[in-house]
Amino acid sequence: MQKLYAVIGDPIAQSMSPIMHNDLFQFYGIDAHYHAFAIKEKNLEIAVNGFRAIDLAGFNVTVPHKVAIMPLLDEIDPLAKSIGAVNTVVNVNGCLIGYNTDGSGFVHGLKSKLPSIVNKKVLIIGAGGAARSIYFTLASVGVGTIDLTNRTLEKAKGLSYDCPYEVQTSILTLSEAEEQLAVYDIIIQTTSIGMAPQTECKPISLHNLRENTFVSDIIYNPLETEFLKRAKERGAITENGIAMFVNQGALAFEKWTGILPDTNRMAITVQKQLG
Ligand code: ATR
Repeated sequence: MQKLYAVIGDPIAQSMSPIMHNDLFQFYGIDAHYHAFAIKEKNLEIAVNGFRAIDLAGFNVTVPHKVAIMPLLDEIDPLAKSIGAVNTVVNVNGCLIGYNTDGSGFVHGLKSKLPSIVNKKVLIIGAGGAARSIYFTLASVGVGTIDLTNRTLEKAKGLSYDCPYEVQTSILTLSEAEEQLAVYDIIIQTTSIGMAPQTECKPISLHNLRENTFVSDIIYNPLETEFLKRAKERGAITENGIAMFVNQGALAFEKWTGILPDTNRMAITVQKQLG
C-alpha cells in the first residue's frame, strides 16, 4: 500500500517540502506521497491522533508546532530534546519518534562544502530557534570555537547556558562581532534580517570580513540577501538558505526511507519552484 507522509504548519501553503519529497519518492521508485496540511495550534493534538489512526509513515513539523509537538510524541531523540524542538517525526510500528534535522541538516551541508570543520572558528549571528539548533548541533559534532552575537545579548547568553555540549563560546555585541570579524572561518547568519520584503537590511557590517571566509545565510527569500552580496564582494565563499532547507529535508528522507538522497537534485527542484 502507498505510504503517506506530511508536513504540518500554519501557514503551510508556501511550503516547498511536498514538491521536494514527492520528486524524491518518484526518483527513487518509492510508492509514497507527501502532503501539506495546515493545522491550527488548537488542533495539533487532534491532528496527531488522526495521523496515528491512519498510521501515517512520518511527517515534518514547522512553525508554529515545533515545540508543542514534543509532548504528543512517544519518544524524542536526545539532540532534539536538548534543542527543545522537533521538525521530523518517524512512525516506527505505531511509535512516533521525534527528531530535529534542522541543525544536523545545516551541519551536513557545511561538511559537504568544507574539507574540514575541525578547529574552525565559528560566529553565529542570532539567538532564535534556528540559531539554537545550529549551535547545539555544531557543538555536539565538535568545531574549534563558536561565538554568538545577537541584538538581545541575554538571549545569546541563554543559548550558551542551555547548550549541553562542551564548546568554547564568547558572547559578543553586534559591534564587537563586526570589529573582530576577521578571526572567523565560518559565519552563520540566522536572523530574519534581510528577508523579503525588507531586503535592504543586514544584521552587521562586513568591513572587517576576511577573504575566503565561509559565509552562510539561512534565508532563501531572496536567494541572495544583502548580507551575502556584501560578503561575496569581499571575497567570501557564500551559501544561501536553500542549503539548510534541502539538507534538513534530506536527513528527514533518510530517516523515513533509509536513502540519503541527492541534495543537488533537491536544490534544483527547490530553485525551480522559487523561480
Ligand atoms: P527563528 O526561529 O527563525 O530563529 P526567532 O526565534 O524569532 O526566529 O529569532 C529571530 C532572530 O532574529 C533573533 O536572534 C532576533 O534577535 P533578538 O533575539 O534580539 O530578538 C533576530 N532579529 C529579528 N529581527 C531583528 C532586527 N530587526 N534586528 C536585530 N535582530 C533581529
